[in-house]
Amino acid sequence: MSHDKALAGIRIVIDAGPTYEDIDPVRFLGNRSSGKMGFAIAEAAAQAGAEVTLVAGPVALATPAGVARRVDVRSALQMRDAVLRAVEDADIFIATAAVADWRVAEYSSRKIKKGAAGAPVLELVENPDILAEVAARDPRPFVVGFAAETDHVAEHAREKLDRKKLDMLAANRVDEHTGIGADDNALELIWPGGSETLPRASKSELAEALVARIARHFRARGGRA
Ligand code: PMT
Repeated sequence: MSHDKALAGIRIVIDAGPTYEDIDPVRFLGNRSSGKMGFAIAEAAAQAGAEVTLVAGPVALATPAGVARRVDVRSALQMRDAVLRAVEDADIFIATAAVADWRVAEYSSRKIKKGAAGAPVLELVENPDILAEVAARDPRPFVVGFAAETDHVAEHAREKLDRKKLDMLAANRVDEHTGIGADDNALELIWPGGSETLPRASKSELAEALVARIARHFRARGGRA
């Protein structure tokens, strides 16, 4: 547990969990994110003295101790609105959410029926990239992205860091023991000009290590851009 209050007085916004994209009143597109990684980071940041706003997708987790504000959302569009409002006066944004890349083009207000016409074809449209939008703001907070990868973790992570112009990116390998939905994780932390491996550990241990690194880099950069 961190007792040095490395983030005293710093405002942090963290998004966490999946988003659910409704198809009709009973069905949705979703993913396996549990919110554990983001909630652990929210707890570690609050322990380090930060004023934390946690924007949570649909998860079954209690609000961690010390978190100042929690905003519950369901879809990517709702998460985007909540994050953009919250980052207005934030110093650091940490994007741990597994935001759905697509939503259905047209929500059906009636349950889609099985019928003679066969299986329906769902047309999908791309969701806005919340992380890229925050990173493109001027002024902007210190921006930390996440990446869930199954292969070529370091290369894909470096590409995302550069393309989205992030200050830091935490890449996790997704397999059956770590990453999405699991209790443990392992992170490859990269930033312009450097990298560090945070080996497999519980998400709360990793969250403490990550928050310490973020605090150091944020201070070294001199705060909000
Ligand atoms: O919730 P857990 O079960 O604890 O699992 C944690 C986790 C594996 C979900 C988490 O550690 C993680 O890796 N989160 C990012 C997952 C992801 O979907 O990454 P991505 O490569 O699709 O997106 C890259 C970055 O862009 C992420 O910071 C993501 O939040 C952000 N993004 C992506 C799409 C989008 N429309 N908006 C975004 O902000």
